Parts: sequence; structure tokens; C-alpha cells
Amino acid sequence: MTDPCTHRLELPDEAATQELARRLAPLVRHGGRIHLTGDLGAGKTTFARALLRECGIRGRIKSPTFALVEVYEVSNLYFYHFDFYRFNDPREWLDAGFRDALAAKDAVVLIEWAEKAGAELPPPDLEIILEPAGDGRVATLTASSEHGQSWLNALFPNAHKPPSA
Ligand SMILES: Nc1ncnc2c1ncn2[C@@H]1O[C@H](COP(=O)(O)OP(=O)(O)O)[C@@H](O)[C@H]1O
Ligand SMILES: [Mg+2]
Repeated sequence: MTDPCTHRLELPDEAATQELARRLAPLVRHGGRIHLTGDLGAGKTTFARALLRECGIRGRIKSPTFALVEVYEVSNLYFYHFDFYRFNDPREWLDAGFRDALAAKDAVVLIEWAEKAGAELPPPDLEIILEPAGDGRVATLTASSEHGQSWLNALFPNAHKPPSA
């Protein structure tokens, strides 16, 4: 039996990555934590941009590769888009004063390269692993909270239902 907490999805082109992000956007509007995992060029920023755009963020959405974090606010909801690629020491995010933002319950927190922040980082609701597959990508979505599981149930309503008699 497949694990109900995990879904795999083919993303044949950039538009498919953006479409998945747009479908997730309305589900995270009350806050949520998403880790985006994958090599350079896997599509993490592409995904984050499409999600942020769909959540109503206007203007330029920069990759946080150099600033480490970009912060947005829409209708009193905060969005934190982190990129820890340049982190060398897992303690750096604590020193950088990100603890409150990273633990925020009522914010949307998107993290690229969360694995560089070490084990002290609060766990995500959902991790999305992006890997190359031919010219496209394959996404593996894993929920690790009730929130994350409810998002997966909404995204993939027909998965894991027992066959009807
Ligand atoms: N599903 C996909 N299939 C093919 N190319 C994709 C897909 N998703 C994104 N891309 C492309 O891959 C590149 C990913 O860049 P970016 O999102 O900055 O990656 P990352 O943030 O993971 O380093 C972009 O050029 C984008 O157009
Ligand atoms: Mg990136």
C-alpha cells in the first residue's frame, strides 16, 4: 500500500511546476510551512514565486539567495521566503535572528535548502522534493503534520480511496 502522507507527481515543464504551486496557494492562506528540496535549478524558486504570486503578492518576487529571506505581507498575512543555500553552519539561522519568523504559526514560510539549517529547524507541514526527470521534474510531496496531510488530501482527492464495490 502506498503511504498516504506521500504523493509523487510528474511535472513535465515549468508550467506544471507553477500550476502545482497555484493549486497549493489557496490551501496555505491561513499559514503553513513548506520546505522545498532539490539541487540548484530543480525549480524551488520557480515554485515559490508562483505560490507567492497566486497568494496576491504584486511586484517583483526576488530569489532570496543573497538576502537569505524576502518578506511580504498581504492582508495581514506574512510570507517568509528563505533560501539557506549560503549557510555553512546550521547555527547561523539562529544567530541571524530568524527564530521568530521560522517558528511563526500564522505565517506562510517557504524554505529552500532547509537541510542546511540543521535539525533544530521546526519541521515543515509539507516537504516538496523536486528532482530531474527527463527534460522535466518529478515532485515528491510528503506531509508531516495534520495541516500538510489536509493539503495533500485536497490536492489529490482521488488518491488512496479504496476501489468502490
Ligand atoms: N517542471 C519543470 N520542468 C522543466 N524545467 C523546469 C520545471 N520547473 C522549473 N523549471 C526550470 O528550471 C529552472 C529552475 O530554476 P529555479 O526555480 O531558480 O531553481 P532552484 O530555485 O531550485 O535553484 C528554471 O529555469 C525553470 O524554468
Ligand atoms: Mg532557488
